[in-house]
Amino acid sequence: MLTDITAARDAALTQIAAAATLDEVALLTTRLAGKKGELAQLKTKLGALETVEEKKAAGQAINEAISTVGDSLDTQREVLSSAALAEQVESERIDLTEFTKRPARGHAHLVTQAWERLEDVFIGLGFQVVEGPEVETDWHNFEALNMGDGHPARGEFDTLFVDHIPPEGNAGETLLRTHTSPVQIRTMLESEPPIYIVAPGRVFRRDTPDATHMPVFHQIECLVIDRGITMADLAGTIEAFTKAFFGAGFNSRLRPSYFPFTEPSAEFDIQRPNGEWIELGGSGMVHPNVLRAGGLDPEEWSGFAFGFGIDRMAKERHGVEDIREMYTNDIRFIEQF
Ligand code: DAH
Repeated sequence: MLTDITAARDAALTQIAAAATLDEVALLTTRLAGKKGELAQLKTKLGALETVEEKKAAGQAINEAISTVGDSLDTQREVLSSAALAEQVESERIDLTEFTKRPARGHAHLVTQAWERLEDVFIGLGFQVVEGPEVETDWHNFEALNMGDGHPARGEFDTLFVDHIPPEGNAGETLLRTHTSPVQIRTMLESEPPIYIVAPGRVFRRDTPDATHMPVFHQIECLVIDRGITMADLAGTIEAFTKAFFGAGFNSRLRPSYFPFTEPSAEFDIQRPNGEWIELGGSGMVHPNVLRAGGLDPEEWSGFAFGFGIDRMAKERHGVEDIREMYTNDIRFIEQF
């Protein structure tokens, strides 16, 4: 009997040592070490033994064999599971070396760069930055700027009207602002002079895109209202801005022009160090009708205003041939700036 037990134990140990997977170990566990396993089955033969001593010795030997086999199963299970884990870790390993190179950092779009630099320069000159809505009323965009119904200058602004009936007012009088000038009116109505503001923002015109036009573009508006403001303040501010923004080698000039919202009006140009003049924008002394629309007494207050395109400026600064390039979002173009 004792020989049978030893043989069964050794056979079990050999099988366990040969198990190559955790599944096999699981099967062997039930078959060999379970309550009804091969070793436990040997206990049924105990009854055939004659003496109590023999039964006792054999029972003990069976229990020892079960315990040895159990230990061996535990060991084999551990060995195989750490091997399985190692294999899993290896198979799931991710190659992170590509991240040791820093990813390329993006940067602000060139229009945003120009916009932010303009704000910086004007803040440096003592101006505040304000904003106005992109969806405007006909009144703010035209009427209050001295362009009443039927004014011929309205024709120059190819206006996009919005299909919206406002709570007050009439249908067909809501539009996408065609310039940033309506922010002049809103600022005058909402704050007390002295006013020294710039208002950058998006504007809209019913234009077909071409090399120099986009239906959506950006402007910056400047408005100064104070006592005793003259054309000399306008010229001096434009000159100071030109030097601060473009550099000491640049000059500015005013050229007589016409805008309904200013009187007198001037276009302003800047001169590159190579002598070349570039048209930048419109300007002038705020028209008395505009001051009145803004709730101010023209006898007490005077002011100047100017406005120009931000995209145009970015285009000039970087020598971009076609303004549409700035909006195609081709990374090869954008990365150059
Ligand atoms: N709003 C004008 C435009 O879009 C530009 C302009 C001209 C703004 C004269 C001004 C100004 O403030 O005084 O064409």
